[in-house]
Amino acid sequence: MKILVIGSGGREHALVWKLSRSRRVDKVYCAPGSAGIRQQAEPVDIGAGDLDKLADFAAREAIDLTVVGPEQPLVLGISDLFESRGLKVFGPGREAARLEGSKAFAKELMLENGIPTAACEVFSDLAEARRYVARDQPCVVKADGLAAGKGVILCSGRAEAEAALDDVMGRKIFGGAGDRVVIEERLIGEEASFMALMDGDDFLPLASSQDHKRVFDGDEGPNTGGMGACSPAPVVDAAVHDAVVERVLKPLSAGLKRRGLVYRGVLYAGLMVTEDGPKVLEFNCRFGDPECQPVMMRLETDLPSLLLATAEGRLREVNAEWSGQAAVCVVLASRGYPGEYETGMEISGLDTLESWSRGYAFHAGTTRRENRWHTGGGRVLGVTALGDTMAAATREAYEGVSRISWEGMHYRRDIARRAVDRNGS
Ligand code: AMP
Ligand code: GLY
Repeated sequence: MKILVIGSGGREHALVWKLSRSRRVDKVYCAPGSAGIRQQAEPVDIGAGDLDKLADFAAREAIDLTVVGPEQPLVLGISDLFESRGLKVFGPGREAARLEGSKAFAKELMLENGIPTAACEVFSDLAEARRYVARDQPCVVKADGLAAGKGVILCSGRAEAEAALDDVMGRKIFGGAGDRVVIEERLIGEEASFMALMDGDDFLPLASSQDHKRVFDGDEGPNTGGMGACSPAPVVDAAVHDAVVERVLKPLSAGLKRRGLVYRGVLYAGLMVTEDGPKVLEFNCRFGDPECQPVMMRLETDLPSLLLATAEGRLREVNAEWSGQAAVCVVLASRGYPGEYETGMEISGLDTLESWSRGYAFHAGTTRRENRWHTGGGRVLGVTALGDTMAAATREAYEGVSRISWEGMHYRRDIARRAVDRNGS
């Protein structure tokens, strides 16, 4: 099989790494790829948003399956284009990808199908929105549309909510995404990530995982794309798992079908596990990053077979097996991230991990110059390891981290701590 992966981040590196280990795979391409991804895949110099060129490439090279990593090409309709040209693609079409692209659309589908989520109202008028928050409840102000994961402001009451609305709708700090805002009830609980493959008829839950969104230890500081992840997420016990299947995946799958939307790809549900059970914070139409890294490390089933079955609507024929081990991914970031960050710092120690048997360092933002690795992004590496317990996997991951350094390297010291505490080991 020849596979094309679209994207260039840590998630795509994990997908490429896993795909390249399959006996069914002859060759993996990655567009645009990265210096790190080049270790397992041939880079293709086409941007992730250049849909026509990507389709031309897939047709010319007779690619058997294209796997779309990030949301942007999905929201732009890459899967519709590929399908119209008879090319196999893993990832939902434009309409279904609005589950991630529009928070208002996602809420509408959840309400329509009785999926548990925070109560909310949608506003396109600033004065009306300000009147709504006058009741002075803890709430969350969200800009509609993609704002690079940044369009969410947590507010403890009226004053903070008014300031957030003025920023988002008045001063348009997230640009056009602030034309419409969703104001939500603020949920209390522990967050977890739940991904499932969906093929339009069936779904197949993947191993649970947990992200660490804030930049500093103890969940302090601004939100990031994710500073680390572990799998499984102990907060997703059997009861929570069943609740997600029964109250989220089944009704969502049926609801999409009723709307005539065929969702073929991975659905990511960001959950808040509350006292009343799991509630959906958000849907994404792609693998989580960095959740994908530990989840791929635990997957024992052939990945291309799973993705192809999804793309071909044959999910009912396959199953996913998971290692009983836990996996932990610690993200190493550039100084300043998620704000303005510096790049071009020389990374030392990375080559010493080449012989590491219990883990792997996925590249999220590196460059290679004169045979040396340099930083080239906000999130730079995702050092990921397996262990018999969550505590052992965490120790192993930090052991990997301890070998790497550059000036200004930042990472959280408490990835998976909550999971370890819950497990007792
Ligand atoms: P979102 O992009 O909607 O997932 O929001 C980003 C982050 O904001 C989430 O991971 C949560 O930490 C937080 N958040 C979003 N919505 C809520 C909510 N209704 N209640 C509490 N926290 C929330
Ligand atoms: N790590 C969260 C996300 O991928 O959206």
